[in-house]
This record gives sequence, structure tokens and C-alpha cells, in this order.
Amino acid sequence: MLDNLGRVRRDVGPITPELSDAVADHMNVRRGEVHEVVSFYSFLQVPVDAVRVCIGPVCDCMRAKDVLAKEQERANGVPVLGVECLGHCDLAPVLMRGDRVEPEVVHRTNDGPSTGLAKRDDTLADYERRGGLEALRSLPAGGRIVEELKASGLAGYGGAGFPTGVKWEAVAKEDGPRFMVLNADEGEPGTIKDRYLMELRPHLVLEGMLIAMRFAGATEGFIYLREEYPAARERLLRALDELGEAGALEGLSIQLVVGAGAYICGEETAMLESMEGRRGMPRLKPPFPSQVGYLGRPTLINNVETLAHVPAILRLGGGAWAALGTRGSKGVRLWSVTGAVNEPGCYEAPNGSTLRELIDEYAGGATDEIGAIVPGGAASGILPPDALDVPLTRDELREWGAGPGSAGVQVFPERYSPLRLLAETMRFFAEESCQKCTPCRIGNRGMQHLLEELEQGNVVMPRGQVEEWLDALLATSICGLGQGAPFPMRNAFRYWPELFAPLGEATTMSGP
Ligand SMILES: Cc1cc2nc3c(=O)[nH]c(=O)nc-3n(C[C@H](O)[C@H](O)[C@H](O)COP(=O)(O)O)c2cc1C
Ligand code: SF4
Repeated sequence: MLDNLGRVRRDVGPITPELSDAVADHMNVRRGEVHEVVSFYSFLQVPVDAVRVCIGPVCDCMRAKDVLAKEQERANGVPVLGVECLGHCDLAPVLMRGDRVEPEVVHRTNDGPSTGLAKRDDTLADYERRGGLEALRSLPAGGRIVEELKASGLAGYGGAGFPTGVKWEAVAKEDGPRFMVLNADEGEPGTIKDRYLMELRPHLVLEGMLIAMRFAGATEGFIYLREEYPAARERLLRALDELGEAGALEGLSIQLVVGAGAYICGEETAMLESMEGRRGMPRLKPPFPSQVGYLGRPTLINNVETLAHVPAILRLGGGAWAALGTRGSKGVRLWSVTGAVNEPGCYEAPNGSTLRELIDEYAGGATDEIGAIVPGGAASGILPPDALDVPLTRDELREWGAGPGSAGVQVFPERYSPLRLLAETMRFFAEESCQKCTPCRIGNRGMQHLLEELEQGNVVMPRGQVEEWLDALLATSICGLGQGAPFPMRNAFRYWPELFAPLGEATTMSGP
């Protein structure tokens, strides 16, 4: 359904109630079902040539609201919208005029300590010259693949950090038919690594996906791609054609599903709902997608970057790949480093690296005195400059009340108040909540309101009540969006207590 609606939006115009009914009649489904879907997604009712100005935290810090006001002034009949993170934080402040990104896209990256992960391949031939398709062509038996993945320590780079070898093994144990889904919805503010990989190394991403499909015995695969990545879409489609001509798709089909501006559809079960033609509302887990996934069948779901590491792991061996990590951590990852740094971009560096190393040795150093740092995406927490030398691992960051998330490191200058950053973060959660759970629907908006009032010196809720709300969010939300939202709030209480003094005494202070 999303595909049909997207096509109608592109070919005919924004989805009006009449067009929505026409799609319902054409697909022979209830008209109400289509209306529900249309109203859920941000972009279906917006013309394709609209101007979308990113007002996510990094862009906000770079004065995106001024850009928005200027664009609205000179609008000339074309709608101008402020939207959540567009996934181009390295270009902040950024906007999209239709499909065109402004300012022009540049990729700032490195060769990497090991695999040259983000070095560009223009064609399949380029990719093959660098060892591309070797792993797919000499695929070991399923058991060996699981062993290598487990030895590598590779653990979901979509943010949840679930061990990849364990997930693959679980899917393979379920009865077929099975499906494979590549999660390319990358909506986490500050996270741009999957876009870099799809734009620079589409053949590598697809080799990882083909290995996963062969391993899982999935003949049908899907790429769920966010709508705001037109260049990635083109690169993936061209690479798919090349791989088809080279015979690498033999017996397999891969379909592209394009999203419509709903961050929550990156959550794997919301994504499945969306693919099945419903609103993108997360399902209760268990059962997990590896057991009951797309159309009720076992489904292997992996993030773009997770799969992009699989060919190197099979080529080098899991142990050798693991040894690329530092300070006891295993392997490497692609870190998005944006905000107040001289060279915002994506850098391959060992797991176990510190914020200071990423900022100084890879991203060209900070442009300003650092005020706050978000280590891995909106729900990963907010850290003070004292944390610059902490290795960004799950264990180390837990002590700081934070996590590595999707490795979207955002550096904020001292002039950007943590209260402002926090208010923007809670606004993001409130805008992107799917509205299914009451604490998430009401709590995030309430926190945004509280913080905006606090910025003005007003107190709308005492500290004890704020903590009760955060406890409720954590305990009763059914997905990671609501469960993660308390983390940045709790961090801010801990690291900038003076900003919250007007709310009164802390009471419970449980939770993360
Ligand atoms: C609110 C929310 C948003 C998410 N967005 C993404 C996303 O954009 N891309 C992604 O790969 N995983 C995202 N995830 C994680 C997925 O649910 C899932 O864990 C992941 O796709 C599994 O692949 P991996 O094991 O390779 O990381 C999100 C999770 C939550 C709770
Ligand atoms: S926690 Fe929020 S986003 Fe997740 S299912 Fe509940 S309402 Fe939806």
C-alpha cells in the first residue's frame, strides 16, 4: 500500500481524500484502512517539490530555524516545512528542495584501519577489484558462518546491539519459508552512516544482504529505505541491476520499499507493519521477527551497516576482525561525527575508541568549547565534556547512564544550552511517537513543554512528578522509543543539576 501511495504522490500529487479512496478501490481494501495509513505518514500529503528544512538538534544548533524562516519568506507558493532529522547532519544546517539536498553532498571519511569501509566504488567492477563478491562466491556452510559471526563479536549496528550470529542462528532454526529485510530507514538524529554506505558502497551492502539471504534460505528480500535518501535509492537500484547482470541474484528477488517520513518505522516490528500496508505501529515482542515476522513468517532483519561488515568478517575470519577493536572491544564500526567539529562526516574506527579520539583524530577537532555530547542518537543519553576520554562501549557508557546506540556522535558547543538540546530531543520523541502507548504519547510532549517553560524561567511541574512520568515512560512503553526517552532527561538531571534547581528536590530518581 505504501508503495502505491508513494507512486500516486509522485505521479499525480499529494494524497487527497479522493486519491486515497481511489487507491482503496483499486486495491480492493476498506477506504478507512487507506485513510489511516495516509494520515500516519508525514510526507504522503505533501507535494514532492516541497522544501523540507531540517530542524533536528544538530541543525537547530546551526541556526536552522533562521533558515526555515528565510525559506518561508521566499516560499512562492511551494510549501516549506520544518522536519525532523533529514539524515544529512554533516551538512547542517541542511534542507531538501524536492529531492535535491542543499548544501551539496560531500562525503568526509577515512580509509579505515582495516577494510576501507566507506571508500567509494563506482561500479561492480571497482568493487570486485577490491575483493568484492569473494565472500559470496565462496560461502562456507551455515554453521561456519554462525561461528565466524559469533567470533567477530558483531552486534546489531542499528542501535539495539543484539549479537548478529545469535540472531542468524535463531532464524535458521525456524521452519521456512523465511524472508530477509534490510533496515535502511536510518532516522536516528545524528546518524548518517547507513546513507554513506549506500551512497558510497552499495555493492558491499548488497553483498552482505545476499549472504544473509543465502544463509537464511530467503528467496525474497526487501530493502526498507527512508524517503529522504534519493541518492542512496539510485545507487542501490543501479548496483542491483549490475549484480543481476553478473548472475549474483540467481533465484533471489530483492524489492525496494520506500518509507514516507515516519521515524518509528525504523523499529523492526513497526517496519513490518508498514510493509504489510498498515500504520507503522510497533508490535509487542515476543514473538520476535526471527520467529513471526513479515506476513507471519520467520524474518531476518538487519541494519545496513551490520550487513556491510559481514563480507569482511567472512574474508578475514571472525577472530581477525574482532582483533581490530581496541581496549578489549571487538571489531570496527562507522562513527557519524557531526556538530561542532571541523570535519563532520563518517569515520571507520575501532570499537572501544573514545569521544576525544573520534573528535580530534578523525573529525578534525572541535570548532568551539564543547558543552554537551550525544554519543549515539537521541535515546543514547547526553554527556558532559568530562566524558571525552570514556571508551564508547556498552559497559563503560552504562556507568554514565548512556549507551553507544547507533554511534551517531553529536558535538554541541557551550553556547547551545543543554536545556535547549533536551527540549529539542523531547520534541523529536513527541513528534515521532506512534501514539500507541499513553505514557509515550503524553509524556514526551509533557517533557517538551516542561523544558520549554523552564527555559523561560517557569515551573509547570515539580521534580518529583517529572520523575514519576519518566518512570512510567520506561516501565510501560512497548518499544524502544518510549523506553529510551527518559535517558537524556536523567543524564541532564545528573550532569547539569543547576538547570533543574527551580523544579525543587529530587525524590525517587530510579530508572536508567
Ligand atoms: C524507535 C526505534 C527506531 C529504530 N530505527 C532504526 C533504524 O532507523 N535503522 C535500524 O537499522 N534500526 C533501527 N532500530 C533498531 C531495529 O528495531 C532493529 O533492532 C534493527 O534493525 C536490527 O538490525 P541489527 O541487529 O543489524 O541492528 C530502531 C529501533 C527503535 C526502537
Ligand atoms: S513507546 Fe511510543 S513509539 Fe513505541 S509503541 Fe509506544 S507509543 Fe509507539
